[in-house]
Amino acid sequence: MRFTPIQDIIAGKYDGKHVAIRGWVYRKRESKDVIFLIFRDATGIIQCTVKKESKQWDDAEKVTIESSVTLSGTVRPDKRAPGGFELSADSLQIIGLAEIFPISKDKSEDFLRDVRHLWLRSRKMNLIMRIRSEVLRFIHEFFRKKGFIEVSPPMFISSACEGGSTLFGLKYFDQDLYLTQSAQLHLEALIYSLEKVYTVAPSFRAEKSRTIRHLTEYWHVEPEQAFADIDDMMRLEEGLVSHACQKVVKNCKKELEELGVSSKKLASVKPPFSRITYTDAVEMLNRKGIKVKWGKDFGFDEERKLAEEFGKPFFVYAYPKQIKAFYCKTYQDNPELAMSADLLVPNIGEITTGGSRVDDKDELIARMKELGLKEEDYEWYIDLRRYGTVPHAGFGLGVERLLTWMLDLENIIDAIPFPRTTRRFYP
Ligand code: 4AD
Ligand code: MG
Repeated sequence: MRFTPIQDIIAGKYDGKHVAIRGWVYRKRESKDVIFLIFRDATGIIQCTVKKESKQWDDAEKVTIESSVTLSGTVRPDKRAPGGFELSADSLQIIGLAEIFPISKDKSEDFLRDVRHLWLRSRKMNLIMRIRSEVLRFIHEFFRKKGFIEVSPPMFISSACEGGSTLFGLKYFDQDLYLTQSAQLHLEALIYSLEKVYTVAPSFRAEKSRTIRHLTEYWHVEPEQAFADIDDMMRLEEGLVSHACQKVVKNCKKELEELGVSSKKLASVKPPFSRITYTDAVEMLNRKGIKVKWGKDFGFDEERKLAEEFGKPFFVYAYPKQIKAFYCKTYQDNPELAMSADLLVPNIGEITTGGSRVDDKDELIARMKELGLKEEDYEWYIDLRRYGTVPHAGFGLGVERLLTWMLDLENIIDAIPFPRTTRRFYP
């Protein structure tokens, strides 16, 4: 038997035709003479009616929410039905009769997260996961068009990229290892072979912060490029984010509409993005009555305040070197400032960090000493400056942070199917 995707029926391709569909019962409403089944498959939802005197009435009565069913009938337009079409059923077969489904209306967000394995069936999660898949496709498309080679760095690592405080340790046979926080250091090794590389992979952070923008496991987009600097990275970043926004507006129109996301906001995202130095950002915050001392890193609150001012994505660059990582190159005419930029967006704040890397061996070793990092833990990384060093740069973009902003999600948790946070690792 041929089954028709619901989205094709809703699109009006089967008006008056007889079709078979398969999927799950989403909602059910019963009156004296008719049972209304709202039915869903991966592609959409449609209303089906079963009449009292028909042979499928008994099965329709028996069927419960989330039961899996095949059903066939004739398509006819009905303005009152969701999607504008209705199916009058002439056969119905139960595949799996569901027990009483634990999710009903008015359940708390917390409960829905406890039963995430079931909540993934909701329209909202279905739509978010579809857009997520598209955004990932557009990201790959962007880098490949620009000649970047996709590479696959390791998840088990022996020394930190982003500082010890957010490292997850693990036993690796009888050794102590960590889960990667960023592919950056290994990507740096790969540019000496391929020049322009990128990866989309999980990163792990033992991040105690319980905010709407922190996960302990997230997906990280990281390019690294030889013969490039912080300005090249900012251009690459604004190009990437704009490409993702423009393509989502074009290819995910229906999904955005159903989620209630304004495509206007996304359509307006175009390069070049505004840029402000860290020092000017501190001044701006102080003018707004938020006291920040020069040299202190911005937290969530400061970033959100700054973002209010811009109302769209913008860069903050030239941070004090003491709040940036050991691998950040400094400006030649101002060695106190790191050639490092963050891309910030409204409500979320930082969605990327990137910039130029230290390419001089002695400078790198001196920086590591200052920060108390052991040279022997980074021998291979220092080697990259020993053998044919070149100026280079890269950045990291959090996929879930990007999606949270794009889709106006209340919490980053909804941007990934099975979120991992300090408190959540089930299901
Ligand atoms: O700013 P971060 O720590 O920078 C790096 O890891 C660099 N080594 C990247 C590079 O240059 N290749 O992380 C980069 C991005 C952040 O801007 C944020 O979007 C995301 O990763 N991120 C998180 N997303 C969700 N939950 C967390 N706990 C995150 N920590 C970082
Ligand atoms: Mg950062």
